[in-house]
Amino acid sequence: MPSPPFDRRAERRLLRVGRVLPPRAPLDLRPAHEQASAAWIAQAARLAGALPGGSWYAIDAVAAIGATPRCYHVRGRAFVVWRDSDGIVAAPEACPHLGASLAHARASAGKLICPWHGLALGREGHAGWKPLRVHDDGVLFWLRLEGERELLAAPILPARPDGALSAVVRIEAACEPRDVIANRLDPWHGTHYHPHSFARLHVIEQDERAITVRVAYRLLGRIVIEVDARFHCPDPRTIAMTIVRGEGEGSLVETHATPIAAGRTAIVEATFATSARPGFETARRLAPALRPLIRWAARRLWIEDAAYAERLYHLRARQRDGDGVRVSGFRHPDATDAAQTEAARGNT
Ligand code: FES
Ligand SMILES: [Fe+2]
Repeated sequence: MPSPPFDRRAERRLLRVGRVLPPRAPLDLRPAHEQASAAWIAQAARLAGALPGGSWYAIDAVAAIGATPRCYHVRGRAFVVWRDSDGIVAAPEACPHLGASLAHARASAGKLICPWHGLALGREGHAGWKPLRVHDDGVLFWLRLEGERELLAAPILPARPDGALSAVVRIEAACEPRDVIANRLDPWHGTHYHPHSFARLHVIEQDERAITVRVAYRLLGRIVIEVDARFHCPDPRTIAMTIVRGEGEGSLVETHATPIAAGRTAIVEATFATSARPGFETARRLAPALRPLIRWAARRLWIEDAAYAERLYHLRARQRDGDGVRVSGFRHPDATDAAQTEAARGNT
């Protein structure tokens, strides 16, 4: 249900728990649709898109990988990922002999045994088939696509809190990475689009690359905690949300948008929850029980936000096809003719 940015009656009904933040004034009391700036979102996304990514792509949780191969796609290329005694291995999905899918390979002593003729393949490679560079950051693993223009030795990670309770979700959406980033660069939709999670939200700091919001996050119904959360992009396909003040200060949510193929993106989100409260040690011990809750909350938001991102992609396709769609203020982060042509070709 739509609500103004500051509804005094609704505010009085909220039950605030946890740390009390010093008041911030003056607050921008204009309606969210007046505050939400398409121009700012476009510019912030454009600046993010120009950052170095080093050809690294976040793929999934480290915990998702065992001895049995799993198949992932990045930029239209298929890879198998499995674990041997030295860690995670990733390599092309097609067997170098006659092309069988190694996603169906049997694992034996850290090697993949091709299902067609039994060739054993491991990290030493074979006849031009060789593993890619993998980065295991302890929570997520990343692949580096060789052949891209800029290569870095490791992905660029935002500062993560020590000893955090972590949880990862991965979902796929019919859009491009820029749509995922653009969604998260629009915090103004929070109370309207996710009223189950955000009771109140105000932008309190903003520069060209980052935005900080004061948000009342619903724990349960009218019970909320108030935090200041800062969003910024450390690389072209990642947006990080850090709790900079309030309950859980230092906690981080990293959202990575990985292109699977033209018009298809994987959203890989890692939450790192921390707290200075003594009870947090107990929470860490309860991690196996708490992780599903964190994943449930992240997934609930991303089901809605994926629909938002898919809508951006859909609108861009309609604009590209010249069907006359006109949306006031809709100007996508890549809204130059050249970039839109690239997007149409799937070169994202
Ligand atoms: S296709 Fe893999 S061993 Fe022949
Ligand atoms: Fe959202």
